[in-house]
Amino acid sequence: MTASPHPSPFPDGFLWGAATAAHQVEGNNTNSDAWLLEHLPHTLFTEPSGDAIDHYHRYREDIALLASLGLTSYRFSLEWARIEPEEGHFSPAALAHYRRVLEACREHGLKTVVTYHHFTSPRWLLATGGWEDPGTPERFARYCDAVTAHLGDLIDIACTLNEPNLPPLLATMGIGGEVPEQRADVPVWAAAAECLGIAPQRVAPFQFTATEAGYEVKLAAHRRGTAAIKAHRPDLMAGWTLANSDIQAAPGGEDRAEAVRREVNERFLLASREDDFVGIQTYGRTVFGPDGVAPPPADAQTNQMGEEIHPQGLEATIREAAAIAGVPVIVTENGLATEDDTERLAYLRTALTGVASCLADGIDVRGYHAWSAFDNYEWVFGYRPKFGLIAIDRTTQTRTPKPSAHWLGEVSRTNGASLASDRRAVGART
Ligand code: BGC
Repeated sequence: MTASPHPSPFPDGFLWGAATAAHQVEGNNTNSDAWLLEHLPHTLFTEPSGDAIDHYHRYREDIALLASLGLTSYRFSLEWARIEPEEGHFSPAALAHYRRVLEACREHGLKTVVTYHHFTSPRWLLATGGWEDPGTPERFARYCDAVTAHLGDLIDIACTLNEPNLPPLLATMGIGGEVPEQRADVPVWAAAAECLGIAPQRVAPFQFTATEAGYEVKLAAHRRGTAAIKAHRPDLMAGWTLANSDIQAAPGGEDRAEAVRREVNERFLLASREDDFVGIQTYGRTVFGPDGVAPPPADAQTNQMGEEIHPQGLEATIREAAAIAGVPVIVTENGLATEDDTERLAYLRTALTGVASCLADGIDVRGYHAWSAFDNYEWVFGYRPKFGLIAIDRTTQTRTPKPSAHWLGEVSRTNGASLASDRRAVGART
């Protein structure tokens, strides 16, 4: 570790990492529901994922690169559609693949933060009623059992479900969230139903299902999945990772903001009390005015999705999570979609200063993972948004670390001490 004159509030063993999700980086995830949805008529996706960044084949060089930057942790997800390609049929080859990925992390000294489900499910699961079907928690538990039996010894932290609370947040912005009776009128759900041979009201993909039934199924899947994981590794820290926007009110929007904060943040944080940790994933703030979500102020800097850049949201949501859930917090995602890496670096610096402030106040934060390790497939937005610390030329699949990657690596090598001196150097403007 590089010597630094500045004290750091980051405890020894704090995880300094970057995150990815299988579907966004692996490529050709053809047996998943997301692949199906990308290729339907009336698709919501601006472009298909295709080869993505070919991480499925290039994981060794990718992991070596992350470690060479100085990071100590890699959060990534396993692809259920590869591991259980048909219901009840597990693929030894796919499990062996992920074992090699985990071993590569070990070889390079990276802790493994493993997400069992990051939005995508096998296509067969969608055909059985997906994330509103009462049988799904049992199916998910069986998958968690198989995964942990084969890979559990190499996993350092287990994340069951990624962002089960994103759908209600998206629904407040008019994305997805249709109740079953409305789905026949939404062209893409009607097309999915026809393709799967089920009724449109039964089309319930994880990311777009915001019903109460969906909540019950996800919570039960999380509980049963956790129990299946613990049956093999009682000592393995397990929890879910949440989409925690910093929910705020503009004048006239107080009641709406409070209602959304309760439904999207508090409800899920209360459920996290039974877990070993809660994963926090914050990108900014969502401000409610009298007419719903308020647009960013006219003079606000915005990201590539047109949202206000607000790195201070991370500190607010860590404090909210710690106060409500009362369990250790791990920042499992945080980052900015921008072509301007200077902007990203400033964002990360401010966000991490917020983490340091939480630690200084005695809040138990165990790690920070930037989203994302690489520029990758940003779901319905396709490849345009650039969240990566590492740029990808998708024609040659060449990887090029950006200055923010080297900066975060240095913060990691000094366990946060360089952050304090760096902020002094820039005059702590943000
Ligand atoms: C998700 C990621 C996504 C990121 C940036 C989170 O909602 O977990 O898959 O790419 O935010 O939008």
